[in-house]
This record gives sequence, C-alpha cells and structure tokens, in this order.
Amino acid sequence: MSNSLAIASGKGGVGKTTIAVNLALTLAQMGSKVSLMDADFGLANAHIMLGINPKKTIRDVLKKGMLVEDVIETGPHGLKFISGGNGLIDILNIEKNSKYQLIRSLNPIEKSTDTLVVDIPAGASENSMTFASAVDRLVIVLVSEPTSFMDAYTFIKTANLDYNLHNFSIIVNMADNESAAKETFIKFQNIVGKFLDANLTFAGGMPRTKKIQNAIIKKLPVVLNKEAELEKVSFQRLSKNIFKAGENKNNGIRFFSKS
Ligand SMILES: Nc1ncnc2c1ncn2[C@@H]1O[C@H](COP(=O)(O)OP(=O)(O)OP(=O)(O)O)[C@@H](O)[C@H]1O
Ligand SMILES: [Mg+2]
Repeated sequence: MSNSLAIASGKGGVGKTTIAVNLALTLAQMGSKVSLMDADFGLANAHIMLGINPKKTIRDVLKKGMLVEDVIETGPHGLKFISGGNGLIDILNIEKNSKYQLIRSLNPIEKSTDTLVVDIPAGASENSMTFASAVDRLVIVLVSEPTSFMDAYTFIKTANLDYNLHNFSIIVNMADNESAAKETFIKFQNIVGKFLDANLTFAGGMPRTKKIQNAIIKKLPVVLNKEAELEKVSFQRLSKNIFKAGENKNNGIRFFSKS
C-alpha cells in the first residue's frame, strides 16, 4: 500500500524543499517508487533544485481536466515529479473545493507510488494544514533558533488542536553535528511536552554543509553528488527513521482515498 509524507515547518527558509527533494531521491535510490509533489504553490522551487523545467503543472489538472499522469515529469532514479506551479495559489484560496480536488487528483498514481512526498508551504495556513493532515506521516524541519522553535511550536499547536494530529517526526537541519541536533530536539520536545498532547520522534539531524548550499546553484541535488558522502549517509538515516514515527489517521480527506 502507498504511504504519504509531508515536509513542513513553522518558519520559512529552514530547508524543507532541500529535505523533501533529497529524501525523495534517497528513497528512490533505495528502490522505492517515489512521487514528489511541490505543494508550495506560491513559491514553488523544488523543480529548480531538481534541475527540471516542468511544462505542465497541477493547475492543468484542476483547470483543464488533464490527467495527473500527463503533468508528471520523470526525474533521476525514476522519481515522479508533480509541479504545483505558481499560478495555483489564487485558485486554492478562492475555490473551497480545489484543495480536495487536488488531493483526489493524485488517486490515479496510487498504484505506481510506494511513497508520496509533499513539500508544503511554511507556516500554519489553511493550505498547509489541509495537506499536512492529508498525509500519513508529518515531518517538521526545525533549526536551532528561537524563531524556528516558536513557529514550529505554533504549527504543531494548530495541527494538534485544530486538526487533531498527534504524531510528528522532527528533523533538525543546519546542525553542527548529530549530538547538537539531538540536544536541539530534546529542548524542543520539552517545550512541546509541557503544553500539547503531541508525540515527537527524532528522525535525525542534517549538518549545515557547503555541498548542500551549493547544490541549488549547480541544480544538482546533493544526494546525486558523488563527493557528498556525509550528506548521503545522513539522508539515508533520515529516510529510515521517518517511517518509525507514528501515523496520523484523522478523519478528513487524505491522499490516495484513505478516507
Ligand atoms: N543543511 C544545509 N546546509 C547548507 N545549506 C542549507 C541546508 N539546508 C538548506 N540550506 C539552504 O538554505 C536555503 C533555504 O533552503 P530551502 O529552500 O530548502 O528552505 P525552505 O524551508 O524550503 O524555504 P521556503 O520556506 O522558502 O520554502 C537554501 O539556499 C538551501 O540551499
Ligand atoms: Mg521551500
């Protein structure tokens, strides 16, 4: 059966897209059939990181009645990439059913997908929350800064109280090393644990490295860089750990007709 995960954060610029793209590629490299959807419709940029120039986007599915299969671009390791495009934000904000239509429009690729990875916009907007609650597992990217803590806390609080989500996988990005990442996680877990009924699982840290930073300029994701052994190993560890976190099985609309 297919499973789905979303990469979210409170604060912007903490590395969601970097992590979504490289996790998706790592899972594909390990032999899974992976689909990646860029749901950051206002500021879509996963295609840039992948070096793909999508001719069609999910807008063509919603507005022109095209099939999702016809807007998919195939990336490295057979990764299926679905571009949100930048023209969709108004439709999503104005047309109430469009978010549900969009989630349903992915049903035809369920059979050809082991894991769907969704890159969602920063913050706790209704758009972000709809996609966050439509996946099985929710991954939050955190960095060791007070603003990231505050915004991730707000995201989890909204997800928890307004959308009844309880399980969160935490990745600490831009960490000095793995033990610093773990320390950051524990600090954050202590804060969340005081006020919310949420289970946080530490998926691991990702170091801040020049190779990750330069990947966007080269338009070559770091896990495809033959010299990026440290980064590759870190993404392999993350890709195993995120599946150890509990699933959220809320009653609302979810990807792949799970409800
Ligand atoms: N571990 C890392 N080491 C070095 N640079 C990083 C790392 N993670 C992300 N970056 C850099 O930080 C910047 C922001 O990353 P990215 O675009 O992935 O963040 P984001 O959370 O998706 O942002 P947004 O909220 O705008 O969507 C990029 O320039 C990226 O290359
Ligand atoms: Mg992004």
